[in-house]
Amino acid sequence: MTEMIDVAVDVPLIDDEEMPQYLRSDVLDGRARDEALGMMRRLAQHLRDKTTDQAPSTMEEPIDNYLDEDLFRAEVDLIFKRIPLPLALSCELPGRNTYKAVEAVGVPVVITRDAKGEVHAMLNVCRHRGALLCGAGHGTARALTCPYHAWSFGMDGELRGMYGESTFGEVDRSKRGLIQLSCVERHGVVFVCLTPGLEIDIDSWLGDWGDQLASLKLDECHLFSSRMMPGPNWKAVIEGYLEAYHFAATHPNTVFKINHGNTMVFDGFGPHERLGFALRSIDDVMDAPEAEWDPAAHVGPIFWTFPGLSIAGGWRQRMTVALCLPTTKVGESVTEHRIVVRHAIDTSVQHDLEVMRDWFYDVVYNEDYLTQYGVQKGVSVTGGHTQVFGRNEIGVQHLHRTINRLLDENHEEGYALPREA
Ligand code: FES
Ligand SMILES: [Fe+2]
Repeated sequence: MTEMIDVAVDVPLIDDEEMPQYLRSDVLDGRARDEALGMMRRLAQHLRDKTTDQAPSTMEEPIDNYLDEDLFRAEVDLIFKRIPLPLALSCELPGRNTYKAVEAVGVPVVITRDAKGEVHAMLNVCRHRGALLCGAGHGTARALTCPYHAWSFGMDGELRGMYGESTFGEVDRSKRGLIQLSCVERHGVVFVCLTPGLEIDIDSWLGDWGDQLASLKLDECHLFSSRMMPGPNWKAVIEGYLEAYHFAATHPNTVFKINHGNTMVFDGFGPHERLGFALRSIDDVMDAPEAEWDPAAHVGPIFWTFPGLSIAGGWRQRMTVALCLPTTKVGESVTEHRIVVRHAIDTSVQHDLEVMRDWFYDVVYNEDYLTQYGVQKGVSVTGGHTQVFGRNEIGVQHLHRTINRLLDENHEEGYALPREA
């Protein structure tokens, strides 16, 4: 709770006129448009029938899921340290000799794009005496120079320079490069495995989800902003991204004004999920011929990559891309919120983008995350009992089934492959 107070956003929510505006993009072509139309068709039918996509039954899970230290350690060691984590977007490394430094589940990582355009991921730790090389954030550099004694490393991680080398004595430079982590850039996302020596098989991990990610054309996007937001246990946070059931109660003056509540379509792709929410504007068009439909204007899609990358509004010109990861404590997470755009960023759109960024940040923090801090307090006194996830909370059920499956099946020889949860 201390961290929450440090960053509390003490500003009134932005009024209606300033809510983020829809801007068309040309992402929805060919098969992507057919799939988006399919989602819109299903949503229209749900609205007519007053239904939503549902799981076969309700699901109970132990409250200790949010409290148990041993379980948390297993989640970190068997899931977060073994699977490919989507730690960066390609647009965060927009040119040669760029880097992004980030702490993921307590592991300091630096991701670079070298002079040849190749992406590398390494522990952000100097091989002299262990200082952190780069402060968190994005930058441009031809080399990474340690702030302690100024050893410098190439963007590929090789040890290049040692200050006062003639006084230092013998060092085998080939053994003093940065510790490499397996990483793959795919569909505009950089996936990193936090365990040195473990190789990523990205095709197995993504499966059919790869085509879904590719359809968003994230590799053509630009980064506008990135902000970190503290939160409670990672599952308590992520659950809020995966259902529309809470819109009416939690977001009566914001999200619920734009979206129908408790109406959702769900598709699972191995551990990953695609959700579609019905925007209220769908009411005016859903009885018109489908040829006139523009799903980007009337469906709110969430493309959600396990274990916590949420791409919202991915068919539009502007989208929010959030990654929630645990810290090293069971009751804490941190979410990196990015605004990503398909168009050039110049002064004419600067204000609009700032409004959009602040709107999302305020709504997510003041409405979702403060509610979820409440959940963390609530579960802290109800250990031993269970929670219940409704049939209409199918995306949340899928999340928990996936976590349970990975904890059961994952073991030291490798990492989990995608399979239906
Ligand atoms: S710890 Fe990095 S140069 Fe000494
Ligand atoms: Fe919410």
